[in-house]
Amino acid sequence: MVHINIFDTTLRDGEQSPGVNLNQLEKLEIARQLERFGVNVMEAGFPASSHGDFEAVRSIARTIKNASVAGLARATKSDIDITWEALKDAADPRLHVFIATSPIHMTYKLKKTPDEVMRQAVEMVSYGKSKFSNVEWSAEDASRSDLDFLVRMIEKVIEAGATVINLPDTVGYTTPEEYGRMFRYVRENVPNIDKVALSAHCHDDLGMAIANSLAAIENGATQVEGTINGIGERAGNAALEELAVALTIRNDKYPYSTNLHLKEIKRTSDLVRKLTGMTIAPNKAVVGQNAFSHESGIHQDGVLKHASTYEIITPELVGIQANQLVLGKHSGRHAFKDKIMQLGFSLTDEKLLDAFKDFKALTDRKKEVTDEDLFTILTDIQTDI
Ligand code: KIV
Ligand code: ZN
Repeated sequence: MVHINIFDTTLRDGEQSPGVNLNQLEKLEIARQLERFGVNVMEAGFPASSHGDFEAVRSIARTIKNASVAGLARATKSDIDITWEALKDAADPRLHVFIATSPIHMTYKLKKTPDEVMRQAVEMVSYGKSKFSNVEWSAEDASRSDLDFLVRMIEKVIEAGATVINLPDTVGYTTPEEYGRMFRYVRENVPNIDKVALSAHCHDDLGMAIANSLAAIENGATQVEGTINGIGERAGNAALEELAVALTIRNDKYPYSTNLHLKEIKRTSDLVRKLTGMTIAPNKAVVGQNAFSHESGIHQDGVLKHASTYEIITPELVGIQANQLVLGKHSGRHAFKDKIMQLGFSLTDEKLLDAFKDFKALTDRKKEVTDEDLFTILTDIQTDI
């Protein structure tokens, strides 16, 4: 079975969602949970964008051992230098350097000719390679770029040392058929393409991010990028939990494997929802509140007779537990620790004790402590350095 690497960009493209601003500890908490979820690469941020993001990326790089940690950089020496400083202690650091390749972006944004863009891309990939062994190059707005220009560009950046080529649908404009065709064309026309991983990165402006990602996989992509809960710029990015479940449930049509642990989906989704403050539509696929409820009489009757009548995904598959532990004033430290691990938090012994005290104080005022109450306690404790 062909293996697909999963590149999570919740902490970079996801954080570009309007109104989202994660602090260093919140980013670290999400990074630890992404590691448990089993992503191959996590893009921890854009280190040159702010001092806070630099610090957050550096702390993630120093903590995460079981995934590659990437940082985004524009195609400039100073961005690449800063990204190296943030990532150099990572177990497996990756530079993610990008430049736009579409006529619209080159003319109006970069104000450069295609030849100038090509030269800059090759120079900066080569510069990046002098520091990083793992260099991902992205052709921003690839889906609106000239295909033959893209092919020449990709060949050159691979010669300059790129190890991953990413072809984003930056503005969520493409269709599955078009996006798939672009991947096939690149696979068939770039002579050295088999030396590198080929990556898809889709936005959801027309609601086609998952369909486009699947089309890319069917046409030669070996890495897919996305975010938890599909958060991201404008209408967001491809939702990784949806992709993971689609690849599992429809393995007959998509015979591809990933390293993702589907049972971590619920916990990862809840953590990202709480810490980003981005609510999830009740009818959102896989993680929406209604994703497993059956309202109409006919459906309820069918499910009672046999769940497979209307249920293609079981709640257990994505880590929704039937018997949720309810915490109240009689709960002890053990149950409390178990519960906070279920919520995706990992606290030091000292912070665990502080959180337990806050929890006990709350049980004097409230009979049943909900997950939402615990999230409030835990985020307060984590920000209280
Ligand atoms: O959507 C996009 O083009 C991006 C790039 C920076 C990879 O996020
Ligand atoms: Zn993007």
